Amino acid sequence: MKVAVIGASGLVGSHLIEASRDRGWDNIGTYHQFPQPELLPLDIRNSQEVSDLLSNFQPNAIFLPAFCSNVDRCEKYPEETAQINVEGSLNVARVAKPLGAKLVFYSSDYVFNGTAGPYAETDSPNPICVYGKQKLAVEQQIQTFLETALILRITVVYGNEAQGKNFVNRLIKTLQNGETIRVPCDQIGSPTLVNDIAEASLRLVEANASGIFHVVGSDVMSRYDFALEIARIFDLPADKIIPITTPELKQAAPRPLLAGMTRDRVISTLSWQLRGVKEGLEYLKQERSKVSNMV
Ligand SMILES: NC(=O)c1ccc[n+]([C@@H]2O[C@H](COP(=O)([O-])OP(=O)(O)OC[C@H]3O[C@@H](n4cnc5c(N)ncnc54)[C@H](OP(=O)(O)O)[C@@H]3O)[C@@H](O)[C@H]2O)c1
Repeated sequence: MKVAVIGASGLVGSHLIEASRDRGWDNIGTYHQFPQPELLPLDIRNSQEVSDLLSNFQPNAIFLPAFCSNVDRCEKYPEETAQINVEGSLNVARVAKPLGAKLVFYSSDYVFNGTAGPYAETDSPNPICVYGKQKLAVEQQIQTFLETALILRITVVYGNEAQGKNFVNRLIKTLQNGETIRVPCDQIGSPTLVNDIAEASLRLVEANASGIFHVVGSDVMSRYDFALEIARIFDLPADKIIPITTPELKQAAPRPLLAGMTRDRVISTLSWQLRGVKEGLEYLKQERSKVSNMV
């Protein structure tokens, strides 16, 4: 199997590279602004570069986690971010078609409005922020011309990453420094270990699955409850975690509050399941203990 990971310098992409390497698959990965060893530079806004890179490598599958995933940035700069998120994603999708490669696009529970989560694949999307609208636009366009594509909706992803920007990393660092952190108690989601997202992605490609899958861990909880669980497992002071409501955070983009997703489809397709929060965090703690400068 030959796979290309577009956006391999990010949280999900780096684990896709690792998991495909563990499978013995031939792979290439790309970065944009964050160079990493062995990765190739690529800006998905440049359709010629995208076409040259993928046509030369001739992958069987193209994983596409590349996106401007900063939700507030998308709200503030809708046109600039659409160049990456919509046009860039479609540049990759358009090349996948003639190559006959399976495209795996990563979407989000932000395609829902957050009034009735956790959501199933059959629920109607109705995004309330620019990021969610961009995700839905790509989902819909891909489905019109790439019937074999996989659309994996993920959310609240955590795990080890070179850029250290995911919620668990930031929370641990803040609490280790003895600082307080304000965490929303009204944003409900499904925290998911990134290693499990990578494994599910590869298994779905091996199963030649297509269409929309919600790829999430077993627990649906608020950010605040998730933060308390992180503090408990990593032996950090929970009293430094201050619950706050989303309006108090004054974020640029509205958030779907009652979100999160159900995962019956991925479990029944793969006869395999992703870990819940306790198991996922314990795995992460073990992984971090192997690296000298981490918890
Ligand atoms: N993390 C979450 O909790 C979460 C939740 C729901 C959905 N998702 C979605 O899942 C996907 C992966 O998330 P993630 O957390 O791994 O994101 P991430 O860590 O922010 O990684 C994004 C990747 O996209 C690349 N990229 C950005 N602009 C690019 C451009 N113009 N051309 C080519 N590559 C570009 C980045 O490269 P550089 O870093 O080198 O610039 C990076 O490799 C994204 O689509 C995200 O929206 C994530």
